[in-house]
Amino acid sequence: MTMSVVSAVPFMKPLHMRSPVPQGRRHTLPASEFRSLSPEDAISVFEIEREAFISVSGECPLHLDEVRHFLTLCPELSLGWFEEGRLVAFIIGSLWDQDRLTMDALTLHKPLGTTVHIHVLAVHRTFRQQGKGSILMWRYLQYLRCLPFVRRAVLMCEDFLVPFYQKSGFKVQGPSDITVGPLIFTEMSYSVRGHAFMRRNSGC
Ligand SMILES: CC(C)(COP(=O)(O)OP(=O)(O)OC[C@H]1O[C@@H](n2cnc3c(N)ncnc32)[C@H](O)[C@@H]1OP(=O)(O)O)[C@@H](O)C(=O)NCCC(=O)NCCS
Repeated sequence: MTMSVVSAVPFMKPLHMRSPVPQGRRHTLPASEFRSLSPEDAISVFEIEREAFISVSGECPLHLDEVRHFLTLCPELSLGWFEEGRLVAFIIGSLWDQDRLTMDALTLHKPLGTTVHIHVLAVHRTFRQQGKGSILMWRYLQYLRCLPFVRRAVLMCEDFLVPFYQKSGFKVQGPSDITVGPLIFTEMSYSVRGHAFMRRNSGC
């Protein structure tokens, strides 16, 4: 695509060509918005991951290409929380087709699976400890109840976060076979189907 020098460098536009500043109208982005993510959100996701994980352990649940991979294959299993257009928290999931998670689960999406593997939940540093992680997980699980093919959600986490996920209704399955460097994990599971009553009454 070609671009004239003037349009490519807006600050060089002559004054009479600049768009008028709207009078009395405020720029409005939704204060709070929840929506599925798309591959275009991958950079924002990875910025949060970089701070939340890489700066702490040098590792992260999903590298940038993996974020793009899952947001291309199964964007409907992601959920982002945006404040005034800025991503503040997110969940990325994919489908899995076995009882327990294996190394393959870290990179694969199994379209015929009935288990949602939650790869990552993360909240931007400045928005933590405000209930956002719990609320986002709650909304995500509500949403999963509306997907008829989903029976359960699983995740693996470090031991210190087990109580956090238990508060959201997850149950400990046991130690995970998966290790990442020195990190070991507990596998946890949430029965989506076990909430049939809530599904019937959730307006799906
Ligand atoms: C874990 C995380 C998602 C929680 O989100 P949040 O919005 O801060 O959590 P909430 O405000 O909903 O709930 C706070 C609770 O989370 C738990 N929690 C959060 N961070 C914790 C930590 N570092 N150690 C232990 N518990 C923690 C506690 O139970 C806490 O409750 P308390 O303050 O009464 O002890 C968020 O802290 C985060 O993004 N951390 C970095 C990334 C990460 O570890 N993600 C999870 C693994 S995939």
